[in-house]
Amino acid sequence: MDTNPSHTSSDPPYTPLLDNPSPARIRRPFNGFAAILASLIFLLSLVALIINQSQESLPEQNQNRSPSTPRPTESFSKPEPRGVAQGVSPKSNPSFFSDKVSYNWTNAMFSWQRTAYHFQPEKNWMNDPDGPLFHKGWYHLFYQYNPDSAVWGNITWGHAVSTDLIHWLYLPFAMVPDHWYDINGVWTGSATLLPDGQIMMLYTGSTNESVQVQNLAYPANLSDPLLIDWVKYPNNPVITPPNGTETDEFRDPTTAWMGPDGTWRITIGSRHNKSIGISLVYQTSNFTTYELLEGVLHAVPGTGMWECVDFYPVAINGSTGLDTSAYGAGIKHVLKASLDDTKRDHYAIGVYDPVTDKWTPDNPKEDVGIGLQVDYGRYYASKTFYDQNTQRRILWGWINETDTETDDLDKGWASVQTIPRKVLYDNKTGTNILQWPVEEIESLRLRSTDFTEIVVGPGSVVPLDIGQATQLDIFAEFEVEIISETKHEKYGCSGGAVDRSALGPFGLLVVADQTLSELTPIFFRPVNTTEGIVETYFCADETRSSKASDVYKQVYGSTVPVFTDEKFQMRVLVDHSIVESFAQGGRRVITSRIYPTKAIYGDARLFLFNNATGVNVKATLKIWELNSAFIHPFLFDQN
Ligand SMILES: *[C@@H]1O[C@H](CO)[C@@H](O)[C@H](O)[C@H]1NC(C)=O
Ligand SMILES: *[C@@H]1O[C@H](CO)[C@@H](O)[C@H](O)[C@H]1NC(C)=O
Ligand SMILES: *[C@@H]1O[C@H](CO)[C@@H](O)[C@H](O)[C@H]1NC(C)=O
Ligand SMILES: *[C@@H]1O[C@H](CO)[C@@H](O)[C@H](O)[C@H]1NC(C)=O
Ligand SMILES: *[C@@H]1O[C@H](CO)[C@@H](O)[C@H](O)[C@H]1NC(C)=O
Ligand SMILES: *[C@@H]1O[C@H](CO)[C@@H](O)[C@H](O)[C@H]1NC(C)=O
Ligand SMILES: *[C@@H]1O[C@H](CO)[C@@H](O)[C@H](O)[C@H]1NC(C)=O
Ligand SMILES: *[C@@H]1O[C@H](CO)[C@@H](O)[C@H](O)[C@H]1NC(C)=O
Ligand SMILES: *[C@@H]1O[C@H](CO)[C@@H](O)[C@H](O)[C@H]1NC(C)=O
Ligand SMILES: *[C@@H]1O[C@H](CO)[C@@H](O)[C@H](O)[C@H]1NC(C)=O
Ligand SMILES: *[C@@H]1O[C@H](CO)[C@@H](O)[C@H](O)[C@H]1NC(C)=O
Ligand SMILES: *[C@@H]1O[C@H](CO)[C@@H](O)[C@H](O)[C@H]1NC(C)=O
Repeated sequence: MDTNPSHTSSDPPYTPLLDNPSPARIRRPFNGFAAILASLIFLLSLVALIINQSQESLPEQNQNRSPSTPRPTESFSKPEPRGVAQGVSPKSNPSFFSDKVSYNWTNAMFSWQRTAYHFQPEKNWMNDPDGPLFHKGWYHLFYQYNPDSAVWGNITWGHAVSTDLIHWLYLPFAMVPDHWYDINGVWTGSATLLPDGQIMMLYTGSTNESVQVQNLAYPANLSDPLLIDWVKYPNNPVITPPNGTETDEFRDPTTAWMGPDGTWRITIGSRHNKSIGISLVYQTSNFTTYELLEGVLHAVPGTGMWECVDFYPVAINGSTGLDTSAYGAGIKHVLKASLDDTKRDHYAIGVYDPVTDKWTPDNPKEDVGIGLQVDYGRYYASKTFYDQNTQRRILWGWINETDTETDDLDKGWASVQTIPRKVLYDNKTGTNILQWPVEEIESLRLRSTDFTEIVVGPGSVVPLDIGQATQLDIFAEFEVEIISETKHEKYGCSGGAVDRSALGPFGLLVVADQTLSELTPIFFRPVNTTEGIVETYFCADETRSSKASDVYKQVYGSTVPVFTDEKFQMRVLVDHSIVESFAQGGRRVITSRIYPTKAIYGDARLFLFNNATGVNVKATLKIWELNSAFIHPFLFDQN
């Protein structure tokens, strides 16, 4: 039963996107809650309201078709996702929702989904970030791109430049599939800046026989700050799959680092014996001839194929990033792999021995693929680079769509890159990295609103009257006051924001409409463990983010270390259909991909909520509205 009077069955059927679509006209259900809320907001427009709201009276129109209910797998028809037939991991999802009627999207809804300050191409399909680097005043981002369509295929290197990592100019393609060694795709790769100023770009090519080989390319003209023209090394490929490696499980070379012997090393992910994820190490003096070193950098049984391996040093004490070749006292190494089997980016911190070229995790129980994730949400194929200009290590990651391929074709584009994040070692926990949006994003800040010590009682929702809430940079701190005794309760995020317990959940409702018919809770859930220790989960609940049934809606999250001298802290970047959430200074990150139908344009709002039963929450927030970034084609005639 759907009691929502604004059900969209009367929306016009889809027609192609207009150049300048007008905002959707959304009719609001006029129930008691909405009426009270609207009039109170009108009267007290600058005051945050506290509405004590029992759980029963909160609007919950979606109850009978709760998307959190697992769909019966048997009823799925599972067409082969794109990429698999070509010998690479599934890159898009034709439709896992064949049991669902396709949602009647409008042009205005599709237009709203496009981000305003995240990097995405003008149109078509994008996946992994490639070869990020800084050269002569410009940041360069290359990316896996299909020039022909909004689904994966014909993979080409798109290219864009920026002076600040936020505003981007699209350039001509850097590389297209035009040789036998990459005719099935110019796949993922990484850049190495040599001390003499040369740039070596190593990338995976899928050959005319669908063998995964590693190729070398370099800029035609290093004096060109835009690095427009790229030359493929005439004797490509430079590395072919070694004996014992499946020819279609050998891809994504890393940035090279220099060992104590003065020669370079790179690592490439693969798998042994079907299920052991491994990273092979190659040595080279000139980037054209490579020797496979004995053994592996690291291997983890049961983790399957490792894609997009990333390997880099972090300073134990430092507040700056390190060049990829740094090693020695005070330095640890991060090893990251994208797990083809689970589509998650996992990392671990450990110690690299530059003489034996072996890496050992600090904590074997939290090894690569079985411990921490780079991001607990919709995120994959991430890659860092060292920005020699500002001494930062900067992380890019690909945000996958979770709607249907048909929807992507209709809207004409698919995928977004995250806001670049600065990476540092967390010297307080000693067990994780910290990820934080690059400070350049602050140049987008417009007006800000502060809310101080708002008390949110158990079961309450508090609107934060900041107007349209589609482009935001939110800092929120929460303190809890225990008002009733707590005992051991079940752990985790999976129950979502509707799963009430003594100490949580509490946090924000982002991209929510006035009546909370669509909402995306980003929250903390502290849990009193059997040992009497409070353990905190940081979660994002997409299950009520959209009325559309043909999109994936998951609850994401993980534990996050919170010290007794710390408040619960989150920073949340809202950019239309993308929400990036950072807990405790970036110890844990969750990227959400949401497709609201009602909470869009002027109807997107922001709320505080506390669904704990045993605590009052005191929230202090600073919220900036963010401007849109300038992301356009480079105008050559003005250069
Ligand atoms: C979509 O719109 C069409 C035409 O207006 C209508 O027949 C159909 O029932 C709608 N489907 C859904 C799921 O609302
Ligand atoms: C790849 O390119 C060819 C030629 O332009 C085109 O016919 C084909 O549809 C493209 N494939 C995809 C999946 O975009
Ligand atoms: C692939 O290209 C190589 C190099 O040109 C050639 O030797 C080989 O015969 C080609 N294979 C196929 C199936 O065309
Ligand atoms: C290389 O780039 C520089 C700077 O853009 C330009 O002045 C020069 O003409 C280019 N050289 C060639 C051979 O294209
Ligand atoms: C790989 O295997 C082939 C055939 O089995 C053999 O000729 C070749 O010498 C091997 N190469 C190495 C490096 O072991
Ligand atoms: C490969 O995996 C199988 C099954 O998991 C196992 O029995 C076998 O010992 C493994 N072989 C090697 C060389 O690790
Ligand atoms: C690269 O180095 C290898 C071994 O060090 C050497 O055999 C090869 O000739 C060099 N290649 C070039 C193009 O200089
Ligand atoms: C911890 O790291 C921060 C930078 O992130 C630095 O300012 C601080 O000095 C470090 N503390 C210690 C004890 O190393
Ligand atoms: C880290 O910083 C502390 C205090 O500044 C210093 O005592 C210690 O030696 C440093 N450790 C390393 C590994 O550099
Ligand atoms: C892309 O999203 C779909 C869900 O829509 C998921 O099944 C698939 O694994 C994702 N692919 C990657 C590479 O993350
Ligand atoms: C709080 O939990 C109740 C009971 O599960 C649920 O009905 C309500 O929607 C939740 N509130 C929020 C903001 O999720
Ligand atoms: C957790 O539970 C223990 C009893 O198991 C209790 O003593 C303690 O006060 C509780 N902690 C909190 C923060 O409620």
